[in-house]
Amino acid sequence: MAQKLAVVFGGSGFIGRYVVRHLAAAGWRVRVAVRDTQKAQFLKPAGDLGQVSFVPASVTDPASVAAAVVGADAVVNLVGILLEVGKRTFKAVHVDGAANVAAAAAQAGATTLIHMSALGADEYSTSSYARSKAAGEKAVRGAFTQAIIFRPCVVFGSEDGFFNLYGLIAQTFPFIPFFTNTNPQAPKGGGASFQPVYVGDVASAILQAASDGRHAGQTYELGGPRVCTMRDIVQLVNQATMRHRKIIGLPYLFAWPLIIAGTVARWALHLVLRISFQAPLLPTADQVKLLKAGSVLSGKLPGLEAFGIAPTAPDAVVPTYLKRFRPLQQNKRLRVAARNGA
Ligand SMILES: NC(=O)c1ccc[n+]([C@@H]2O[C@H](COP(=O)([O-])OP(=O)(O)OC[C@H]3O[C@@H](n4cnc5c(N)ncnc54)[C@H](OP(=O)(O)O)[C@@H]3O)[C@@H](O)[C@H]2O)c1
Repeated sequence: MAQKLAVVFGGSGFIGRYVVRHLAAAGWRVRVAVRDTQKAQFLKPAGDLGQVSFVPASVTDPASVAAAVVGADAVVNLVGILLEVGKRTFKAVHVDGAANVAAAAAQAGATTLIHMSALGADEYSTSSYARSKAAGEKAVRGAFTQAIIFRPCVVFGSEDGFFNLYGLIAQTFPFIPFFTNTNPQAPKGGGASFQPVYVGDVASAILQAASDGRHAGQTYELGGPRVCTMRDIVQLVNQATMRHRKIIGLPYLFAWPLIIAGTVARWALHLVLRISFQAPLLPTADQVKLLKAGSVLSGKLPGLEAFGIAPTAPDAVVPTYLKRFRPLQQNKRLRVAARNGA
């Protein structure tokens, strides 16, 4: 029997690479649809000769999307952005782009459409990212009723943007800050709460959703086994990086100088050099709103248990990749200790 074909939009991204590898390992033919196919070539060894292929497509260009999904049995849309620059707005990517993929998947006769949203997607949210994710879900359901929607909490894994950012802060600065609404010493002063979920668990759920028709039309919330405050998260980073930094709780007011500096730098570089400047150390106002809101499972929707997946704890995985931020001397000491059998 011919192998089934999955088309993965955003397959070269952080979550996408795990999804592509999981699908290929399970025997799917995988077509990776990204704007820059050269940047995605590192995924070629994920499958046998010819099993993983690449197609240039932008979700904002309906013709390229339609060409990318020809012959697909399953379509997975993992395209998302965290900040808006120029024409790359949340509406263009999360709403109109998602609708383009859903309409093309339906038109091509794909059996399954998997759409990646985010925990906290809410049409009434103060964050425009969260509102656009809710509008994207609605647009997807409108074009492909039986779409499977995933709403993950912040995702962790070797290439993540969240834990690695705090690892970089721990490496660079003499203290690690986190934002909190109240006195950091107060019982609830640990900042917003999150339920970080492991990227391998997310990819396993997507693989099962692509392979098993029972998930059609469902919306799943994906979270890890532990609710962590921001203080818990920076404490884990502090331990994993062996930096022993001072942890400081700051009011959200302190985010404003960073937001203003980031906004000015991004617009200046966009207008003058036409380049998109990410600068994770300089968050946008919308990212700070997301940070303030936190995100934990609502308990109203099914999650990883529906796939028989026991969620992986961040403590089990985060130290394995944040060790890149440890002091060099510390790594050497560990290597010597291991050699000496200590
Ligand atoms: N990571 C998290 O913690 C997290 C949490 C909740 C939800 N999510 C959602 O999960 C999805 C994947 O997240 P991620 O962290 O893997 O993101 P990512 O690492 O930024 O990857 C995004 C991917 O989308 C592609 N892309 C961007 N714009 C595109 C466009 N216009 N057309 C086609 N492809 C485009 C990028 O490739 P090119 O730039 O080469 O095109 C890249 O492959 C997103 O929808 C995100 O909102 C992520």
